Amino acid sequence: MIKVLFVCLGNICRSPLAEGLFRHHVMAHGLSDVIAIDSAGTGAWHIGNPPDPRSIQTALGHGIDIGGQRARKVTTSDFDDFDYIIAMDHNNFLDLNTMKPPHGTADIQLLLSYDPEQPLSEVPDPYYGGDGGFAEVYTMVDQATEKFLAKLKDQHFR
Ligand code: 4NP
Repeated sequence: MIKVLFVCLGNICRSPLAEGLFRHHVMAHGLSDVIAIDSAGTGAWHIGNPPDPRSIQTALGHGIDIGGQRARKVTTSDFDDFDYIIAMDHNNFLDLNTMKPPHGTADIQLLLSYDPEQPLSEVPDPYYGGDGGFAEVYTMVDQATEKFLAKLKDQHFR
């Protein structure tokens, strides 16, 4: 079993989309039994809350339901429990590396590092912008999670 955790700041906008889209790709590839998926935030403001309504609506527009997710904060044990911790932006990446305990084994990476065709290096925070930001985030997360899965398949499930 490979375990993957997607992380952003609030765990209500970007990482819930990443969790939902990656789960969608994993199901389409028939790998749901061998890849476990979760998401979390580096911040604590939204613990227990569902995703932002704009993330829920954007995903629903593509037939993906992320409404059942609830936000949680990254914990110390995540760094042992998960094989991959995938950060949405550079701040998340730096925060995760600061939080990581010495014994932590998780491989911490930026999501967009898996997409060589993506000019951006981080997924922008859409929280304070309009709905268009969510559509943009959806597209880049969709493409990057698909490519991340292709890499996982190549490395672990050939
Ligand atoms: P996320 O977006 O990190 O993609 O979930 C944010 C959500 C909430 C806040 C910041 C970013 N906030 O400051 O409450």
